[in-house]
Amino acid sequence: MKSSPSEALTLDSNSSVQTEDAEAGESGFRARSQRGLEISPVPLQTSELTHEQRMRVGLGSYIVNGTADCGGCHSSPAGFLSGGNPFFLDRAGHVVWSRNLTPDAKTGMALTEGQFFEAIRTGRDFHGDRHRPHREVEQVKMLVVMPWLIFRWMSDEDLKAIYAYLRALPPVYNVVPPDNKSDLPLPESIRFPDLYNDGEVDRRLPREQGSFSAQRGLAIAPRAQPEDLEDDELRSYALGSYMANSMTACNECHTNPDRTPDSAKINTPAYLSGGTVFGVPPPLQPVLHQVRATSANLKGATHGFFYEPGDSYARFRQIIRTQSHADESPPRPLGFPMNLIAGNLAKVLEPDLKAIYTYVKGVPPVTGPNDQPRQAYARFCSTTAPCHAGESCSAATHECVGKACKADVECDTCQTCNAGACAAPGANSACVGSAR
Ligand code: HEC
Ligand code: HEC
Repeated sequence: MKSSPSEALTLDSNSSVQTEDAEAGESGFRARSQRGLEISPVPLQTSELTHEQRMRVGLGSYIVNGTADCGGCHSSPAGFLSGGNPFFLDRAGHVVWSRNLTPDAKTGMALTEGQFFEAIRTGRDFHGDRHRPHREVEQVKMLVVMPWLIFRWMSDEDLKAIYAYLRALPPVYNVVPPDNKSDLPLPESIRFPDLYNDGEVDRRLPREQGSFSAQRGLAIAPRAQPEDLEDDELRSYALGSYMANSMTACNECHTNPDRTPDSAKINTPAYLSGGTVFGVPPPLQPVLHQVRATSANLKGATHGFFYEPGDSYARFRQIIRTQSHADESPPRPLGFPMNLIAGNLAKVLEPDLKAIYTYVKGVPPVTGPNDQPRQAYARFCSTTAPCHAGESCSAATHECVGKACKADVECDTCQTCNAGACAAPGANSACVGSAR
């Protein structure tokens, strides 16, 4: 779709968003930085830093541990953000490993700030072949799995803060195994565009590069800007868009598929209507009592969470703060990996959480075939973790089955309704095969 001139105009002439950006920027920066210093799970090396540098480290912590979830992929038994988790790309042995982001001199992140920016903005991999100097690698392929296509939209100020935080971490010695990706058909990097062109409307990026910029948030929303929002609500929508589209990446998990087949754009007709399947890593299954989950339909006009009669910010907030379906009785724990995302979001400042809600609430609804009800997560079972009355435990997949049903949607993720009872997915289930 062509860029819409009327939207470009809204963006530049929206005085309430623009003038308040500066003020809110300053007080917001201080509050986020303070919170960030409180929520860092590891002690920081800040004794040699100036006050201003320390504040920047705090802001970085707020992003890494609150609004984004770097630890979900980069933390491992070796330590916080010390890398070493494998991500298998196919059945042919292609694999990448999350990197050690700590400043350990031998095994940690060796990027300068400039290289860090280039890695996040363009996907360039500066060290893809560092671990195997004897093997000839013609061309180092871009970073994969790492969600830099989202993080690239963060402002300079916020990327600098993340870098400063990573530099202040306690170093962890942890050798990350070499990737196997150099023969994949991937480019070296993708140039950072001067327009936001991932969504249904192209927009110019604002020139200012401040922290948690509402201006930037308006520019990087994949769908058209709702017309009925004014002043405070628009500001909150814009700030929420900034976080949801450059940090927390609701789209990555709640849109299926999340991008168009050539990956050039976000799949806006299905935006936030759920349906992505997640396999729970086997060691976590007995801990979480879950086997696999489907992302919720958030924005479907008929089946979306944000259109349920009980929808309110208070309900959303309680779900996030308790990491449970607080609106059910008894409340089930949230499914994987939303439990981790919610665990981080529970630590963000109230106005920021409210902004995320306002943004998602304001996004236009999804209608038509993409608006489907989604299955609940499949529950893990064993001799010590029984199922509900009337159910049994599938020996093959360790999930509860046998619930009475009329249709697949009443059964848990990837199960089918066979002759009135929910059955575990078979070995060739396409649903299980699609799981991330
Ligand atoms: C979905 C998992 C995932 C998340 C979330 C994630 N990363 Fe990554 N990251 C990876 C993987 C995997 C790699 C290695 C990719 C490769 O080898 O192609 C990587 C690589 C990197 C690199 C390159 C490091 C180097 O030494 O070259 C940086 C920098 C980085 N990540 C920073 C971050 C930051 C900062 C965040 C949070 C804002 C984050 N990542 C969130 C999976 C993730
Ligand atoms: C890493 C993947 C992931 C990310 C990122 C993510 N979600 Fe989720 N979300 C899920 C999954 C999976 C579920 C289903 C959990 C369950 O079944 O209990 C879910 C459930 C939810 C629910 C509960 C809905 C209900 O029906 O009770 C809400 C609300 C929600 N997500 C909002 C968001 C918002 C807003 C964002 C972005 C700020 C977001 N999620 C980011 C994976 C994710």
